[in-house]
Amino acid sequence: MRQRLAVGNWKMHGSLPENQALLDKVAVTAGGLSRAIAVVCVPFPYLAQARSALAGSKAASGGQNVSQYPKGAFTGEVSAGMLREFGCRYVIVGHSERRQFFGEDDATVALKARAVLAEGMIPIVCVGETLAERERGITEEVVGRQLGVVADRLGAEGLKASVLAYEPVWAIGTGKTATAEQAQAVHAYLRGVLAARDESIAASMSILYGGSVKAANATELFGMRDVDGGLIGGASLVAEEFLAICRAADG
Ligand code: PGA
Repeated sequence: MRQRLAVGNWKMHGSLPENQALLDKVAVTAGGLSRAIAVVCVPFPYLAQARSALAGSKAASGGQNVSQYPKGAFTGEVSAGMLREFGCRYVIVGHSERRQFFGEDDATVALKARAVLAEGMIPIVCVGETLAERERGITEEVVGRQLGVVADRLGAEGLKASVLAYEPVWAIGTGKTATAEQAQAVHAYLRGVLAARDESIAASMSILYGGSVKAANATELFGMRDVDGGLIGGASLVAEEFLAICRAADG
């Protein structure tokens, strides 16, 4: 059974009072979901607030990034162990903004995913092509390579405990959503790549779609055969939008 998920990625947004109102609503809505899990990935300083606001609810909190190192002289970095201590159950790794603005390559993303697994949390591994790559017709090559490097590093056991997110870079924060058919085509390709390694992983792995998901398009996207929910940026900051998206993921 593939886990259905609605994962909010707040990016670098939020303030203590705004967060509280949003988290309280997520906690309530999560309780009404029967098969989907609502997750909020907040900036590091707000992890303690998210943990306490979601305590006792069915919603989970997560980090948006993590160091690949367990501890040491790495100024400004945050380890997987620290995220676990603050109640994270999920950690996004390899988001395109990390790749694009902070120079993270496939090998680093793979190490980060491994660090998350080593602390018993679930990495949400992001892959996705740029507009130029899509226009050159190399979408499958790009996402296949991104997934392959992580899969090689994690091995079957690690991969089985991970979540994959397909986020076309051209659809992130642009209002330009991939059509449900475009998303499904890449999700099916990714599942095929997984199946070539291990059928049981392909059958059990959740693959989320991200990129301008909103309440208005979530039901159609999440209704596709290989789409198991979403990774939601902008719309996860608006309570009514995010809660509707959580319900869409619940099906
Ligand atoms: P968006 O962001 O929903 O604002 O497009 C998605 C993401 O970057 O995870």
